[in-house]
Amino acid sequence: MNDDRQIPHIKSVETRHMEEREAMFRGLRNLDRRSFLKVSTGAAAAALAAGASNHFHSFLPVNVAYAAENSGAQGFTFAYISDSHLYVKKTNERFVRQLLRAVDDVNNLNPQPDFVFYGGDLAQLGRKEELDLGAQILKSIKAPLHMMVGEHDWYFDMGHRWNELFGAQTYSFDHKGVHFVVLMSVQEKDFWSARGMSPAERMHTVAGLDNAVQSAFEVGAPQREWLRKDLEKVPTSTPLIVFSHSPLYKLYRPWNFWTDDAEDVQTLLQRFDRVTVLHGHTHQVLTNRIGTIQFHGMLSTAWPWPYAPQGLPALTVQMNRPNPFDSNDGLGDGSVSVHPDGLVDKLYNLWNRNPMQVKASYLSSGGKSDVPVAPTLASY
Ligand SMILES: [Fe+2]
Ligand SMILES: [Fe+2]
Repeated sequence: MNDDRQIPHIKSVETRHMEEREAMFRGLRNLDRRSFLKVSTGAAAAALAAGASNHFHSFLPVNVAYAAENSGAQGFTFAYISDSHLYVKKTNERFVRQLLRAVDDVNNLNPQPDFVFYGGDLAQLGRKEELDLGAQILKSIKAPLHMMVGEHDWYFDMGHRWNELFGAQTYSFDHKGVHFVVLMSVQEKDFWSARGMSPAERMHTVAGLDNAVQSAFEVGAPQREWLRKDLEKVPTSTPLIVFSHSPLYKLYRPWNFWTDDAEDVQTLLQRFDRVTVLHGHTHQVLTNRIGTIQFHGMLSTAWPWPYAPQGLPALTVQMNRPNPFDSNDGLGDGSVSVHPDGLVDKLYNLWNRNPMQVKASYLSSGGKSDVPVAPTLASY
């Protein structure tokens, strides 16, 4: 019935990571209280040995942080949710609950954001049932919603259902003096036809980020041409905010934390005075600046990725490695506060930690001023 199980494939780092987490959470659920105490006491002892402080800190709501930050200023705020990786509910209810939590978060923002941006990877295996479930949940968002596609949404039916539900995957719009561009940055060269792969095999191959079969993500020549034309009419003084699912730079190729034609896209963006790129896919706090372009990653609602072993941008202040006994740790959503000048302060609303704010001034100063407060709890 489930044809996915018939497909022989090497387990990717993503699959292994997911399986380990799932097994661990399953194990926790099956523990009796005595065993649970033993396990959690062990974790607490390990944390203390690593120098963690032994008290909980208060959670700072996003809206409070912004009210204080923006008093009297113009500009606007939008919120984001990303990388929910939904399976159908009977396969994985936890990811469904986590997306619902993010929807609650953005609906509870007061004042409401001007819009909510979804950063891609709504589905896990690109199935109609997964995308439909995601669309159904996202319908309850009160603010207007803008969507971006991720590789997990695309490679089962090459975007067919996603396009039916959400429209074009590449588009631009203007809002309060800012030009927004949404790209489909996870194009791959055809590795499947010659191999006679089924849609499910193709999807599994792309989902396994560290295999040698798929090609690197790229925006691709036709879309770069679309971008060039789209930007032609925009004055260089207009602030630009670009959304891409993969980071629009080269971070770590083996996990496809990478866009192969990133430099070509950056060239199209560099003539603008103020450019911010927001990306999903990396599931972590991630900060970079290349020339005038400021880059921020988005948090995932499904699972946090560890940091890549190489290539981490110097400006990134790392979030903690999450607590393995807390399935919500390292997850979250967030807000983007757009200054009147068009640059942004990015808030990572980590669900079970203090939020982290990465200000435009931190990036503009090359890391000299407004250094984000690094998390104080030890990593697990
Ligand atoms: Fe993702
Ligand atoms: Fe992704």
